[in-house]
Amino acid sequence: MKNILVTGGCGFIGSNFIRYLLDESDFTGRIVNADKLTYAGNPENLSGIAEKFPKRYEFVKADICDPDAMSEIFETYSIDAICHFAAESHVDRSIAEPDAFIKTNITGTFNLLEMARRYKDHIMLFHHVSTDEVYGTLGADGFFTEDTPYSPSSPYSASKAASDHLVRAYHKTYSIPVTLSNCSNNYGPYQFPEKLIPLMILNALEEEPLPVYGDGRNIRDWLYVKDHCKAVWTIMKEGRRGETYNIGGRCEMYNIDVVRMICDLLGQIKPGGKSGRHLITFVKDRPGHDLRYAIDFSKLEKELGWTPAESFETGMKKTIQWYLDNPGWISRVKSGEYLSWIERHYDQ
Ligand code: NAD
Ligand code: DAU
Repeated sequence: MKNILVTGGCGFIGSNFIRYLLDESDFTGRIVNADKLTYAGNPENLSGIAEKFPKRYEFVKADICDPDAMSEIFETYSIDAICHFAAESHVDRSIAEPDAFIKTNITGTFNLLEMARRYKDHIMLFHHVSTDEVYGTLGADGFFTEDTPYSPSSPYSASKAASDHLVRAYHKTYSIPVTLSNCSNNYGPYQFPEKLIPLMILNALEEEPLPVYGDGRNIRDWLYVKDHCKAVWTIMKEGRRGETYNIGGRCEMYNIDVVRMICDLLGQIKPGGKSGRHLITFVKDRPGHDLRYAIDFSKLEKELGWTPAESFETGMKKTIQWYLDNPGWISRVKSGEYLSWIERHYDQ
C-alpha cells in the first residue's frame, strides 16, 4: 500500500489514525485525506501534519457522495488502498435528523465501492471502519462476536449496517479485496464534545450540568482511540481479505460510573480542582437506547495478536490531560470559530 485514501481524516478517529500512521507506524507511503469538513471535521485536528510530512500527506476537501470528486482523487493520486472512516457518527443527531446519515453512510460508501470497482486492477484493499452498534443491544450476559446477527436500533446504526452489507457484497460479487472492523466506543484526544466523554469533561470544567440519560445504567465497552488505530492498521496489513474483525476494550462500564470517574479524576488532575459529582443530572432517556455493548475480540487477538495497550484509567488520564492542555482547541470548537475558518479557507 503506497497511496492510501483516508476518508473522514479530519474527524476524531480519522485524525488520530493519520497521526499514528505517519508519525508512529511502519507505513512509509502517502496518505490522501478526503473530508467534506462537516461540523465534525476540524482541520486543526491535523495541525502540523502537512508541514511535517509535505511529501507524504495531501488534503482534499471533498464529499464521498460526489462521484466526480472521488474519481479525480483516485486518478490524481494513484490510490491503491482505502481506509474508510467518513460518516455521520452521532446517534442522537441520527434520531433528530436521519437524512445525512442515509446519504453519507450508505450512498457515500456505495460511491466509494464503485470507485474501488472502477479502479479494481490497482486496488489492494478497501478497509471499512464500522461499529459494534450494528449488532443492536445485549442483555445482562454475552458478547458480540463476528457472527452475531445484525439488529441495529438507531438510524445511525442501521445506516452503518447497510454500509457493512454493501462492502461484503462487493467482495463476494466483484472480488474487491475488503476487510471490515466493528469497534466499540472510542475516547481520546480530538473527540468532538457531543459524545459522552468529552461532553462531560468540558461541562465539568465549566461547572455546567452533566446530563446522564435515563438511570445511567447503560453499559458501553470503552477503547482508547490509539488502540483502535493500531488495530485498524494491523487488520489492513495482515487481516484476511473478506473478513470482519471485532475490536473492543474489554472494558465494560456503566455510563454513570464513567461520569463519576471523570468528575473524580478532574478533581485530582486539575490544579485546585474539586470533584464535579454535584453537577450530575439525570435527564430523559434516548429513544431506542441500547442497554449494553460488550465485544468479543478474540478473533483479532488470536489471528493478528492485537490487544489494547491502555487501561480505562490510563487512557482517561491521558484524555483529561489532553483537554486540559488544549484550551485553544476547546474554545475554537465551542465557539464555532473552526467553522468560520473553514468557510474563509475553502468556501469562498
Ligand atoms: P467523526 O464524526 O468525529 O468524524 C467523521 C468525519 O467524516 C468528519 O471529519 C466529517 O467531516 C467527515 N465526513 C462526514 N460526512 C462526509 C462526507 N459525505 N464526505 C467526506 N467526509 C465526510 O466520527 P468518528 O467518531 O471519528 O468516527 C469515524 C468512523 O468510525 C465512523 O465511520 C464511525 O461510524 C466509526 N466508529 C466510531 C466509533 C466512535 O466511538 N467514535 C466507534 C466505532 C466506529
Ligand atoms: O459503540 C460505538 C459507537 O459509540 C460509535 O459507532 C458511535 O459513532 C459513537 O458515537 C458511540 O455511540 P454511543 O451512542 O454509544 O456514544 P455516545 O457518546 O453518544 O453515548 C455513550 C453513552 O452515554 C450512551 O449510552 C448514551 C449516553 N449519554 C450520551 C450523551 C451524549 C448520556 O448519558 N448523556 C449524554 O449527554
